[in-house]
Amino acid sequence: MDKDHLARTAKALVAEGRGIFAADESGGTIAKRFAAIGVGSTEETRRDYRELLFRSKDALRQYISGVILFDETIRQSASDGAPLVKLIEAAGAIPGIKVDLGARPLPNFPGETITEGLDGLHDRLMNYYGLGARFAKWRAVIDINQDTGVPTEYAVEANARALARYAAHCQDANLAPIVEPEVLMDGDHDIERCAEVTEFVLNRVFAALYEARVFLEGMALKPNMVVAGKKCARRAPPEQVAEATLRVLRRTVPIAVPGVAFLSGGQSDVEATANLDAINRIRGPWALTFSYGRALQTSALKCWAGKPENVKAAQAAFTHRARMNALASQGRWTE
Ligand code: 13P
Repeated sequence: MDKDHLARTAKALVAEGRGIFAADESGGTIAKRFAAIGVGSTEETRRDYRELLFRSKDALRQYISGVILFDETIRQSASDGAPLVKLIEAAGAIPGIKVDLGARPLPNFPGETITEGLDGLHDRLMNYYGLGARFAKWRAVIDINQDTGVPTEYAVEANARALARYAAHCQDANLAPIVEPEVLMDGDHDIERCAEVTEFVLNRVFAALYEARVFLEGMALKPNMVVAGKKCARRAPPEQVAEATLRVLRRTVPIAVPGVAFLSGGQSDVEATANLDAINRIRGPWALTFSYGRALQTSALKCWAGKPENVKAAQAAFTHRARMNALASQGRWTE
């Protein structure tokens, strides 16, 4: 493990005024996103779409620190034959890779999942490093359902342990781990329930990271913001989201961790930006930035609609959201 190298990568990922672009949708997820705009998912359409995003030079140069890729994409070449990884590097951003194999049902725990992918991870990480990846991502999924008593302590613990083992493997291979325990915003729970669950989850995750001897200076945390469930009638404004999110992070995240890069989790584009901005108007001891998938891509995807003549407009839409979120990561965004 090269601690200096890991710490440098982790710091660069959360550098002032920049955030991470999550472009690591699995085959199933990208097919769903394409279906919504009437585009079939083929190796070529996936390549064309991601190529247009990675060729958004202004966005990658100025606002994006790192790009998280899916296994197919890290091996793919652009239409002119240049590896997609090289486009990202040429724009000065760091290539990263999603290494979990997805969340599967956890036996005996209805409604809960365990993220898989630890078997053979060491060899896969070595291979990804060779392909240019300098950081990795693993997502654990925690749902909230007040009627069924979800999440259970067992499921949270199992996922925390898997995240910790993943993070230790990454550092062993000199890839900075992004540790992503996502508490979903799907239910009808209020913001206080989300705060309680997120605090519990983050406590268990950091206990597991400590026990696994993970080097905290050489990682980044990718949590959910503390928000009300989508079906909750009582909506929480950005100031309340910011207050609750920072309260939970202060109670659970050691300041040795250089940065926190939030997922967007199904928030609308503007909501994700407004909430990040409110968080950075309060601030904390860590860099607080974005690691967005949907909130960076939704408008660009709609603009593109699979048509080559729309590429420029789609790049402009993507660049705009990247810029808005970069401003929000400094608490300088205005609508
Ligand atoms: P969203 O921002 O769309 O939640 O995606 C981020 C991500 O990487 C989920 O694993």
